[in-house]
Amino acid sequence: MAFDRQLGFLGAGNMAEAICRGLLAKGVVAKEQILAADPSDARRKVFGDLGVETTTDNAALAARCGAIVLAVKPQHMADALAPMKGTVAAEHLLVSIAAGISTGWLEGQFAPAAVRVVRVMPNTPMLAGAGMSALCKGARATDADLRFARTLFDAAGRTVLVEERLMDAVTAVSGSGPAYFFYFVEALTIGGVEAGLPEAQAAELAKATLLGAAKLLAESPDPPAELRRKVTSPGGTTEAALKSMADGGVLEQIVWAVQAAARRSKELGK
Ligand SMILES: NC(=O)c1ccc[n+]([C@@H]2O[C@H](COP(=O)([O-])OP(=O)(O)OC[C@H]3O[C@@H](n4cnc5c(N)ncnc54)[C@H](OP(=O)(O)O)[C@@H]3O)[C@@H](O)[C@H]2O)c1
Repeated sequence: MAFDRQLGFLGAGNMAEAICRGLLAKGVVAKEQILAADPSDARRKVFGDLGVETTTDNAALAARCGAIVLAVKPQHMADALAPMKGTVAAEHLLVSIAAGISTGWLEGQFAPAAVRVVRVMPNTPMLAGAGMSALCKGARATDADLRFARTLFDAAGRTVLVEERLMDAVTAVSGSGPAYFFYFVEALTIGGVEAGLPEAQAAELAKATLLGAAKLLAESPDPPAELRRKVTSPGGTTEAALKSMADGGVLEQIVWAVQAAARRSKELGK
């Protein structure tokens, strides 16, 4: 099968846009090599503005692209793939970012065609070029397929390889994780207001503190526990705050929250 495009996007939503922008910015793929399929006029316009050709025809996407990023919502996946059956074959590499959808399920959609699948769990900081994506191979994907998929996500952040059985845990830590930190900034802002700050200032202080702490964590050789110890003088303010958190079981609550997310990811995958 001869393809006239190297890379397709099935679904041209927020995550597809983040991946596409990273690829174009880093020059990994030229805009002429990309085709994006989406029923939404508005989303096709976003990709059109990036210089990328678009279509509403998913079968044409499969006919024209050798590698396709599956970037529709999990509940839309079966409908979106249906027009591609009969066209997708062993020559195709499917790179799915859909939460909870297994490589085995995707392979089964195209049986008896021996389609190759790589599954990825990215996260929304990819929208800012600072994503954390975990990848695993399906039964027929090759190491070269995995390397190719990895280049797509390295362009908008960092990547790690995991076994597929760990994808629920990955989802609970890095997939949903950004929301936990946003929640913490919300809480810190409320705390600042309760302590007497105007809301806008509390919000600015909370946000800048998260960004500063993240940069320090990224640049320092110290693990987070050591960085925390360095802020905490005996009998001081930080110690008072951390004692209050320990007394309230905040650490345990966060661990339970991650476990709840992993359980939910497993349920959604059934
Ligand atoms: N957001 C996250 O934090 C995150 C993290 C990791 C993984 N993911 C995964 O990334 C995937 C995409 O998420 P997103 O946030 O980018 O969603 P999104 O913005 O809703 O994008 C999905 C796009 O697919 C389009 N679509 C719907 N049915 C289609 C069809 N039959 N054929 C082609 N396109 C179709 C939608 O159009 P309409 O709007 O017109 O329906 C929409 O433009 C999901 O599977 C999600 O699980 C998301």
